[in-house]
Parts: sequence; structure tokens; C-alpha cells
Amino acid sequence: MSQHNRVLTTQNGAPISDDQNSLSAGERGPLLLQDWHLIEKLAHFNRERIPERIVHAKGTGVYGTFTLTRDMSEYTIADHFNGVGKQTETFVRFSTVGGEMGSADAERDPRGFGLRFYTTRGNHDIVGNNTPTFFLRDGIKFPDFIHTQKRNPQTNLKDPHAMWDFWALNPEAMHQVTILMSDRGIPANYRQMHGYGSHTFSFWNAEGERFWVKFHYKTKQGIANLTAEQADTLKGIDPDSSQRDMVAAISDGNFPKWAVNVQIMPEADANTYKINPFDLTKVWSHTDYPLIEIGELELNRMPQNYFAEVEQVALAPSNLVPGVGASPDKMLQARLFAYADAQRYRIGVNYNQLPVNCPHATTANHHQRGGAMAGTQCPFSGSQTGGDASSNYGPNSNDGLQELAQFAEPPLRLDGEADRYSRYDQDDFSQAGDLYRLLPEDEKARLVANIVSTLSVVSEATQNKMVEHFSAADSDYGQRVKEALKAG
Ligand code: HEM
Repeated sequence: MSQHNRVLTTQNGAPISDDQNSLSAGERGPLLLQDWHLIEKLAHFNRERIPERIVHAKGTGVYGTFTLTRDMSEYTIADHFNGVGKQTETFVRFSTVGGEMGSADAERDPRGFGLRFYTTRGNHDIVGNNTPTFFLRDGIKFPDFIHTQKRNPQTNLKDPHAMWDFWALNPEAMHQVTILMSDRGIPANYRQMHGYGSHTFSFWNAEGERFWVKFHYKTKQGIANLTAEQADTLKGIDPDSSQRDMVAAISDGNFPKWAVNVQIMPEADANTYKINPFDLTKVWSHTDYPLIEIGELELNRMPQNYFAEVEQVALAPSNLVPGVGASPDKMLQARLFAYADAQRYRIGVNYNQLPVNCPHATTANHHQRGGAMAGTQCPFSGSQTGGDASSNYGPNSNDGLQELAQFAEPPLRLDGEADRYSRYDQDDFSQAGDLYRLLPEDEKARLVANIVSTLSVVSEATQNKMVEHFSAADSDYGQRVKEALKAG
């Protein structure tokens, strides 16, 4: 670093003579408005925060590398999935869902697993969780659901009544509720849990064939969970336990790794498969669609500036690249709108020009100009945000920016009448029951205890409704919850 860069300066680069004493009228006198250095410092401090994410506010970010070990060109033209041995830079943000930025890491809550690939054809984000399913199958219910996970608008307290009332009235949540209340509901840290894209996405290949696809990341560190009692103790001792664990692992060179797998379904199977493959409350059988291991995700570098890189990262399910697409999953469809909209509000309209959000392995060339904080360059690619500084419209005869027709997604056949379909899948319970029956006896006992620890404080009507749902999943499941509630 040069001697010049070591001088303490104001934001306009002027050297500061004294950063410890403000300018006052006399030794004991009031301060002077002309102390613009003091004013700059206080004014910037007042603006140090942006709105926290409406969900997933508390998180840990890490850079890494994805190495492809199986060529996937028979399914997709996506560059990062073509060519054995290809390495792609990644960024992952892990998170809890319901708590605020200062909340404890060891809460019973799904964990966010937002994975970005900086590919040569743009950033590809898979913004998933540590669970293969979710509580809902239609995004129109998401704001209501999240309200029940956050604070009561009157008491400002977490509200078990709202939570169980919502689940009692939305039995589609049963599968995810069973996962959440099981041992996997509190991962010990972010390294020792699996990750999932959760939704059904699509791949398409050079022949224009489409496949439905699900992503699974299997931890190579082994699964580790906390019991409710262990988590309660840890939350008091170290509310930042998962962040601390990740910082320690990376600085020790103990880089966490996941085996990246996909399940692939040919497009036409979706019409005849035994379940709706676009229903996010359900998993696909691994016998019907076996896991195919395609590569390894390694996390190996902590960000230098938490605010710039982790708080301002803008992961979005709509960040797709040629060869990877969405699916008719109604949750995913709602998310395709929600994230970029949230990020324009939370960070600002030009959030994609920030270093963490800019494409790192290609250039962003378009005709969008202006807006708050508009720069002229994406810092990583060094490219102009447009091909020619004087052209802000297209097509034009100046900048040579071209569309590439070979990257058109194959057409998707649609039919049916536009309507609001309330019960497009009648089965809310089978997979919750299957999961319950798979659990070993001691885990079943902990599952029931975890449920009853909060279900016991809500109204009898809600308890009865929930017992009905647990019984519909598995009669033993329902019976045990009922008895545990009775035993108090
Ligand atoms: C974050 C909306 C469902 C995983 C967010 C954010 C919004 C949002 C607005 C904050 C984005 C930001 O400010 O950067 C929704 C809506 C959903 C939905 C409307 C349903 C329609 C889901 C599902 C999953 C999920 C099903 C997982 C399978 C995440 C994750 C983050 C997040 C991991 C944090 C991303 C990060 O680390 O920055 N969601 N969400 N969400 N959501 Fe969702």
C-alpha cells in the first residue's frame, strides 16, 4: 500500500488533521456547523443500515468453487454443467428464516441455502433451503404464513397460536412441519446439513428436449443436529454459533464440501407421474428418479466486507441462464417475481452493479441506464453496462449488441382454463406419514415432544385439528401427540 493511501481522509479524499476532537467555539463551547467532517461522519452513520430481508434476515455468506464431475450435456446446455472438471466460482448465503438480523442461529427453523454460480453465461442462483419441501404449494399464501412465523402485530411477541392456527387450517404444511419438528429442525451448524433447490426446475439440451430437475446437495461433513435443550443452551451462550463455526472452519482451511446431485424427469412424465411433480410440499421418489451425482461444491473463502458482500447479495430464483429454466411450480412462479422486486426496494434499482451481484465470468451488456447509484461498469468484468456509452436503446446501429437465438428456451405446451384452483392435489398427508414411519423410535419420541412443547399452549380447537392432521398422516403419530397433550 502506498504512503498516500495510508492517510486518513474524508469521503472526498481530503486529508484529516484531527479525527478525535470536533470543532468548537472555545474549549468548552458549542460545536460549529462548519465542521463538515463531523457532519459527514454522523450523517453517514445514520444511514449505515438498509432494510433487513423480510425473511432470512440473519445469514452467513461464503465464496467457493463448484467442480463438475459428470458431463450433463445430454440434459442441458448450461455451461457450468458441461465439461468434466470445469470449475465455476460460487457464493452461498446460509440463513435462518423467521428471526431478525440479531436473532440466534440455533433456532428451530428451516435453514436457507442460497447458491450462486458465476457462470460464463451469467449468474445462476438456486435459492433453496435445507429441506426438500416447503409448507405451502401456492405463493399467494406466503405472506400470511410468514406473518405467523414472525411477531404478533399487537404484542410484538412470537406467537405459537398464530403458527399452529395457520398449520391447522393449511394441512398441506404437514410434511414440512414434520421435518421442522424432527431432529433436522435444528442443524448444529451450516456445514453439517444437506441443501436442496427444493423446487422443480428445468434443464434443456441442444436438441430442444426439456427435463424436469431437482437439486440435492449432500453434506460431506456428516449430519449434526441439536436437541431442543442443547439449542436453548447454545442460543444463550453464543447466538452467532453458525456464523462462528463457518468463520473458524474457513480460517482453519477446513473447507466444507457437498456432493451435488440431481434428479431428472423427462418432460412428458410429468403428465402421468403418481404425484404432481410441481407440488413443493412433496418429494419425488428416489427409486423412480435416482440421484445422479454431478459435482462437488466446496466453500473456501470468507467475504472481506460483510455488509457489501453478504448483506447486499441479491440472490434470486429468477437469475437463470441458458439451459436452466423454471417450471409450473406455483411457489416458484411467485418467487420469480418476489426477489428482484424485494431487492430493488431493499438495496436499490442498480443492485446488480454491486461487485457481489455483477456477473464475474461474463459481461452484462444492455440498454438500461440511470437510476440511483448508476455506475458505468460492472467492477468484476470491467465491462460497460452497455456496449456503447452513447446508445441507450436497441436495436441500434452503434453498439453491435446481438440477441442469440440459439439460447431460446424450447416452447412449453400449456392448456387448461384460467381459474383459481384450490385443490389441485388432494393428498396432504401420505408423505408426512411416510417420513414419520421412517424415523427411529427415539426420534419419534423427540418429534412428538418438540410438537407438544408449543402446541400445548394453543387453544383446544387448534390442538384437536392438528391431532386430526397428524392422525391422517399416521394413526400412531396422531395418537402419540394426543396422549402427550393430555399428559400435559
Ligand atoms: C429470501 C420471498 C419462498 C428460500 C426471500 C426474500 C423474499 C422472499 C422477498 C428476501 C429477498 C431479498 O431481500 O434479498 C419469498 C416468497 C416465497 C418464498 C414470496 C413464496 C412464494 C421460499 C422458498 C424457499 C425460499 C420455498 C426455499 C425453498 C429463501 C432464501 C432466502 C429467501 C434461502 C434468502 C436469500 C439470501 O440468502 O439472500 N424470500 N420466498 N423462499 N428465500 Fe424466499
